This record gives sequence, C-alpha cells and structure tokens, in this order.
Amino acid sequence: KGKVSVRTLLKMKRKGEKISALTAYDALFASFLDELMDIILVGDSLGMVMAGYETTIPVTMDQMILHTQYVRREVHHAMLVADMPFMSYQISPEEALRNAGRLLQEGGAEAVKLEGGRSVAEAVRRCVETGIPVMGHLGLTPQSIHAFGGWQTRAKSRDEAQRLKEDALTLQDAGIFSLVLEKVPAALAEEVTQSLDIPTIGIGAGPKTDGQILVTQDLLGMYEKMKPRFVRKYTELAGIIREALKQYHQDVKSGAFPSEEESF
Ligand code: KIV
Ligand code: NA
Repeated sequence: KGKVSVRTLLKMKRKGEKISALTAYDALFASFLDELMDIILVGDSLGMVMAGYETTIPVTMDQMILHTQYVRREVHHAMLVADMPFMSYQISPEEALRNAGRLLQEGGAEAVKLEGGRSVAEAVRRCVETGIPVMGHLGLTPQSIHAFGGWQTRAKSRDEAQRLKEDALTLQDAGIFSLVLEKVPAALAEEVTQSLDIPTIGIGAGPKTDGQILVTQDLLGMYEKMKPRFVRKYTELAGIIREALKQYHQDVKSGAFPSEEESF
C-alpha cells in the first residue's frame, strides 16, 4: 500500500471510502497499526493512558515530541498526526507555528491537530501557509474539560450546534485538511460532514462522518478508568493481561518457573 497523505484522504472523502484512524503512543503499538490504518494519531490522551493524569491538560510539548519520536520509527504507511498540547498554540499564532514546527522537525510528525474553532483559525492559517498540515478538533474537546464541567455530549443546543457548524467552515477556510468531531449528535456530525470538502473523523459522532477514530487502548479493553459509550471493545485485554501476570506470579512462588528448558 502507498503512503497516506493529505491528498489520499481528500480522495477517500470524494470516493466515499471510509478513513480508519487510531491512536498510538509508542513504537510497539505503532507497528501493529501502521499497515492497517490510514491515520495514526499521537493523541494528547497519552497524558491519561500513559502518564496517568486525570485529564490531557498537564501534557507538555516535550512529552508530545518524545512519544511522536517513538511512534515515528514504526510508521511507514499511515499518515502520522501529533496533537498540539494545551497552551502550545493558544497564546499567539507565532507560538503555534513554532510548536507545530517542533512536532514535525523534532518529532517526525507529518501533521498536527489542535482543538477549537474561530479562536484558533489564525494559528491554523500560519501553520498551513508555512507548509504544516493541520487537523481541527471540535465538539467535546478534552483540553476544555474544566470549562465544560464534564464529559457530556456537546452541541445538543441549537446555539452550540450553530456555532460548531460555523467553526467547522471557518477552520476549513483557514486550511485544515481534516476535522475530528468528538461526542456530538450524529445528525449534527452528518450535517457538518456534508457541508465540508475536507474529511471529518468522528469519535462518538455517529456513523456518517468520513472516518472514525478511537483510543487504541480503549478498543482493546486495556484502559478501564473511563468507559465512554461510544467505545466498542473489540477484546478485553485487561483480563487477559491480569490472568497472564497472575500465572507468572504463581509460577515464581511455586518454583514452576523457570523450567529446565528455560535454564542454562
Ligand atoms: O488525544 C486523542 O487521543 C484524541 C483523539 C481521541 C481524537 O484527540
Ligand atoms: Na487529543
């Protein structure tokens, strides 16, 4: 399969071919995903899944660069997108450009993702005109969790839905190549998807977006702290891991491990 680029994704939207995306934070997981996925995202969700934070807010540029470097080494086919962490793009378009540039230059990302609508449009424009592809992210944007006051579905009201639709068009005008829609009503996600020339990637946004993304450790049933209804668990690795570790522990205690074949 050929390398996925911004042009590939645009063609997929035009042909109605769904875009498949997942997160990765390290080379091992990236190696499982690369052949299959169209997009691999180094999400700032790594703060919760890898670092054990309650939210994505504490994640720094240095953490994003380090994990993007890890993932980069095993990505040869998918498009590699890295999240811009909280406060790396909000202060000014110049700071946004500098930090986006670091994710490409030091991390090896091919594109960046940032959260928000009209308030980040100028930052998006600066990056795009410099040659950095930018992905948007609207709806339940986790870096705004304290402003939202919880993980509830966004844009259920007429006003917030209207604002989201305008933001989507504003971001497209600013040059984003794709837009993540997180935990918004399916009908709204469908409407936004039809209004845009660029592909939408949904997470908890129903079946009518141009693609889907999930956190890999959620669909594998490994990350158990949060259980959003939009996650489909394709396996229950947490139980399998616990059982294997228990076996090892018992074998060490009983002396059943290591055996003669495992010794020298
Ligand atoms: O950080 C993340 O993993 C994300 C996706 C789930 C969209 O932003
Ligand atoms: Na994110």
